[in-house]
Amino acid sequence: MSAAATSYSDVLGESGGERARLVDQARALEPEAAALLDEVGVSPGWRAADVGCGPIGVLDLLSERVGSDGEVVGIDEVDRFVQMADGLVRDRGLANVRVVRADAREPGLPAGSFDLVHERLVLIGPDRGKITAAMVGLARPGGVVAAQEVDITSSFCEPSSPACERLLAVFLAATRRIGAEPGIGRRLGRVLADAGATDVRLEVRSRLEDPGSARRMQLPALVRHAREGIVRGGILSSAELDGLVGESLAHHADPTTLVFGGLLFQAWGRRPAV
Ligand SMILES: C[S@@+](CC[C@H](N)C(=O)[O-])C[C@H]1O[C@@H](n2cnc3c(N)ncnc32)[C@H](O)[C@@H]1O
Repeated sequence: MSAAATSYSDVLGESGGERARLVDQARALEPEAAALLDEVGVSPGWRAADVGCGPIGVLDLLSERVGSDGEVVGIDEVDRFVQMADGLVRDRGLANVRVVRADAREPGLPAGSFDLVHERLVLIGPDRGKITAAMVGLARPGGVVAAQEVDITSSFCEPSSPACERLLAVFLAATRRIGAEPGIGRRLGRVLADAGATDVRLEVRSRLEDPGSARRMQLPALVRHAREGIVRGGILSSAELDGLVGESLAHHADPTTLVFGGLLFQAWGRRPAV
């Protein structure tokens, strides 16, 4: 196999379809995100960051909680995501939100300046150690660092289908090849603690994906967007990939199939107070 795919964008793509998928996914994950933000006590006046916010992330949920006296900063390294987040923030009238283009490994924002630094579905990528350390650095002493990651290895459908199982194996192989960790969720507490967070707590939230929900089609959609990296990397031919995606979409669309997208782990802790 060649090692052509080297980054998040190589594997997951940056197409308009990917942006739409992330917006739909953010909406689908809203109840779990809201529960986490309420659990950590996000309050009016807080300064909060959403690291790797993509086209919307949790910017809207943070905006309503910190209110007009607070501020939310979205951080993403991909220009097109920054522009789309900017557009959605404007369209939704979120006056307390700004979006900056920055690398989460070295965001170049004032250290110790946030009450909350949050990420979702970013630490699955190859640079989780550097990103988590930078997140802890951005939090004020005593501030909260929070993370949400799915353990994709725990996803399944029932009844199982050979196409879905193969597709999951292909996606896991493609992500692992770029140094991503599809089972990161279950290690999330340890990852925060290793970066220096204290009082780390962990919650697991899970539910079956209802017929009609965007996340029900997550695996075939992810694989479709990862198509270029998978084919270029010699994992599957494009014809094989199309066949598996088609079969898997049909199986997931069947309302009698149970679809579980994986355990969602949420971890949060504090930057030690000085
Ligand atoms: C799977 S998306 C998740 C988007 C959003 N957090 C959500 O949950 O809806 C991952 C996002 O992280 C961003 N990202 C990955 N590595 C990054 C880095 N080093 N610095 C900034 N953004 C990064 C990607 O550009 C992408 O927008």
